Amino acid sequence: MRLKHVNAVITGASSGIGQAVASHFRREGANLLLTGRRPELTENRPDDLYLPGDLNQEAFVAELAARAADRWGTVDVVVLCHGLQASSPLEKMSYDDARDVLHGNLLSAFLVMKHLMPLAPESGASMVCVSSRLGMVGKPGETLYSAAKGGLIALARGAAIEWASRNIRVNVVAPGLTLTPVIEASIQQRSDPAAYQRTREDSIPLRRLATPEEVADAVLFLACSESSYVTGAVLPVDGGYTAF
Ligand SMILES: NC(=O)c1ccc[n+]([C@@H]2O[C@H](COP(=O)([O-])OP(=O)(O)OC[C@H]3O[C@@H](n4cnc5c(N)ncnc54)[C@H](OP(=O)(O)O)[C@@H]3O)[C@@H](O)[C@H]2O)c1
Repeated sequence: MRLKHVNAVITGASSGIGQAVASHFRREGANLLLTGRRPELTENRPDDLYLPGDLNQEAFVAELAARAADRWGTVDVVVLCHGLQASSPLEKMSYDDARDVLHGNLLSAFLVMKHLMPLAPESGASMVCVSSRLGMVGKPGETLYSAAKGGLIALARGAAIEWASRNIRVNVVAPGLTLTPVIEASIQQRSDPAAYQRTREDSIPLRRLATPEEVADAVLFLACSESSYVTGAVLPVDGGYTAF
C-alpha cells in the first residue's frame, strides 16, 4: 500500500475526479479527511471524515484545518480537486461570474494552501492541484476558466519554490475532458449527445475522453513517494490535447 499511515485531505471529494482520488487513496491505505459542498457523500465510509462547506469562505477553510489538526496533528498530503467551470465569450461574461470562477478555482486554492500546509510534518508533505489542459492553452468561451486554471499552475509552481526547503512538494495534474457527472450532464443537454461527444473526442489525439480513475492515477503518483524528486511539475492527462 503506497499511502499507509498517510493523512490526506481531499477537496472536491463528493464528485467526479475527487471521488475517484478518494477511492484510490482509500485502496492505498490513507487516512482521509474529505470535503465538498453537499451535506453528505453518496458512499459513506465509516473510517473517513467528511466535512462539507464552501472553500471560498476562509472561516470554513480554517475550520477544515482545525479538524485535521484535532484528528491527526499533521497532514501529509493535500489534494485540490474542487473547481468551478463557467463558459462564456469574454465580452459577455459578467463581472460576478468572472469573480466566481477565479474564487472557485484559484483563490479557494490559495486559502487551502494557507491554512493546511502549516500542518505539514517536519519530514515534508505533498500537495497535488488539479488544474486543467485549459490552464495551458486557450479555447474560445473558456477564457476566464483558463485564466483561473493557469493561475492555479502559477500558484502551485510558486508554492513549490517557497516550500522546497521544508520538503513540501507541490505539483499539478492538468486533465483533459474527463467523463465526470458535470461533463456527462453537459453532453446529455445537447440535441444529439452522441454526435456532440464524437466531435469532442475528435479534437483529442487519443480520440476519447479520460475516465476519472485515469486522472486519479496521476494524482496518486504525484502524491506518494514514487515522485519524491518531482516538484513544481505539471502533468497533462489529456490524451495528447496539449501536445499539438
Ligand atoms: N471533468 C473534466 O472534464 C475536467 C477537465 C479538466 C479539469 N477539471 C477540473 O477537475 C476538478 C474536478 O472536476 P470534476 O469534473 O470532477 O467536477 P465535479 O464533478 O463538478 O466536482 C467538483 C467538486 O468540487 C466541489 N466544489 C466545487 N466548488 C466548491 C467550493 N466552492 N467549495 C467546496 N467544494 C466545492 C464539488 O462539491 P459539491 O458537488 O458537493 O457541491 C465537487 O465535489 C475541477 O477543478 C475541474 O475544474 C475537470
